[in-house]
Amino acid sequence: MKNGELMLRSRDWFGRSGKDGFIYRAWMKKQGIPAYELEGKPIIGICNTWSELTPCNSHFRELAESVKRGVLEAGGYPVEFPVMSLGETLMKPTAMLYRNLVSMDVEESIRANPLDGVVLLCGCDKTTPALVMGACSVNIPAIVVSGGPMLTGRHKGRSIGTSDIWRFSEDLRAGRMTDEELTLAEAGMCRSDGHCAVMGTASTMACMVEALGLSLPDNAAIPAPDSARKVLSHLSGIEIVKMVRADRKPSDILTREAFENAIRVNAAIGGSTNFVIHLLAIAGRIGVPLALEDFDKFSAGIPLMANLQPSGEFFMEDLYYAGGLQVIMRELQAHLHTGCITANGKTIAENFSNACCYNEAVIARADNPFNEVSGIVVLQGNLCENGAVIKPSAASPHLMQHRGRAVVFENIDDYKHRIDDPGLEVDESSVLVLKNVGPKGYPGMPEVGNMGLPGRLLDKGITDMVRISDGRMSGTGFGTVVLHASPEAAAGGNFAVVRTGDIIVLDVPNRLLAVEVPAEELEERKRNWKPQPEHTARGYVSLFTKHVEQANLGADFDFLKGMSGSEVTRDSH
Ligand code: FES
Repeated sequence: MKNGELMLRSRDWFGRSGKDGFIYRAWMKKQGIPAYELEGKPIIGICNTWSELTPCNSHFRELAESVKRGVLEAGGYPVEFPVMSLGETLMKPTAMLYRNLVSMDVEESIRANPLDGVVLLCGCDKTTPALVMGACSVNIPAIVVSGGPMLTGRHKGRSIGTSDIWRFSEDLRAGRMTDEELTLAEAGMCRSDGHCAVMGTASTMACMVEALGLSLPDNAAIPAPDSARKVLSHLSGIEIVKMVRADRKPSDILTREAFENAIRVNAAIGGSTNFVIHLLAIAGRIGVPLALEDFDKFSAGIPLMANLQPSGEFFMEDLYYAGGLQVIMRELQAHLHTGCITANGKTIAENFSNACCYNEAVIARADNPFNEVSGIVVLQGNLCENGAVIKPSAASPHLMQHRGRAVVFENIDDYKHRIDDPGLEVDESSVLVLKNVGPKGYPGMPEVGNMGLPGRLLDKGITDMVRISDGRMSGTGFGTVVLHASPEAAAGGNFAVVRTGDIIVLDVPNRLLAVEVPAEELEERKRNWKPQPEHTARGYVSLFTKHVEQANLGADFDFLKGMSGSEVTRDSH
């Protein structure tokens, strides 16, 4: 505002006279836009990750129409634009390889165009952090609309979700399931529009933006096909125009306190380990100091309140019917900074004041939680000098303190080649170690950390073993799986030189991950260590491997940290 007048960024395009204004307006008018729409209304970008190659986001054109109706109703003018989309199920080698690329697409698309505010349409896992990261680096008013979870899957009369894929896979390998049964389950898995129906990474990200205050209340849990999802999209269109008028930017919402809230909420919902990497990257963009240790510190004492797969029993659809994330935030209020401002200008306490729980089997009360164990534990020790993470609620209690002989796979090909080798010296007390699946090593840090167990142990009925890697795990995965070991093997730390036969100690209560090898021996091994061959010398992958940071820093590019703001100093004509 200046002298009571709204200073719109878009006026630097459409408010001009002469040749420049002519060019900026004339080509917009070719779309049938009346002149008055460009004469001082807030111009709202709708950043759309719709793609038929991202099935979780395939309904986003409909959502965009609902957003547009809200923007028009509030007196703004909506313009929809595409950015690269990231589909978790189809992209090789991993969608994570492209998260930072999409964030650049988003950042530059917003800054280069005459936008006063932006609605971010997010769904499948990486689309949420990528869009939020990009928007943070521009820092104009922004609101997230998530696509919503799909309806719960059904197979043979029971509910199924993405977490069952890992069980089906082990059942198939162990001969407990046939190919025909697997095909039947495949047909019942994805019954509607939307992203994965469990508390996997997509749902975790949707809860993260709601806990941070970047969306309207109830954004996370409304199922994609529910008409309430379109209503929320419409209301978000109205809200972004208000946000522009109030000049409420991401930096006003994303305070240090908001990040602490998000970590605590993530613990209470049993959110994905991918939350760590994405929240660190978002904090890095907005300039809020956040360290890996904060995830352990602020998760401490938070019980698991959401009884959702993979840590529990139910699905996102059930969370919505039980009252949604706002109920969990209300129950957690003693642990939250309740004065944090959210997208609608209200505090989180004002937002959850009317929340009501309708099913305590799905959302437990804070004083009678579903599980005392929650959150993300950060491990330290000589096997991960910069830390590693584990999700205790998805792990086996009897393996939380474990000492075992390492069985090391140097890379994913080595693992695939040898895991079912009858000559592999492995038993259920062994610790499976998978190297070179980190940010630089794979490259892209794929979700292979919950690697399958050796076939002959599956035959014995073994369902879990300690597994350690420098990679990630799907948010839908489970098991006693240590992830994000940093420095990754490709960076040449101690993890790079652990060998089969070394004794590994995992002690979750004491936050320890160590290898019982003397320091001098580790130093000697590192002197003789040679990195894996480079994957490629050109293109985006070359840029990625040169600039990606380690997992404990969020795996963002070193040159993307922070923000450049929204100013563009040079004209195009
Ligand atoms: Fe898109 Fe799971 S595959 S959210």
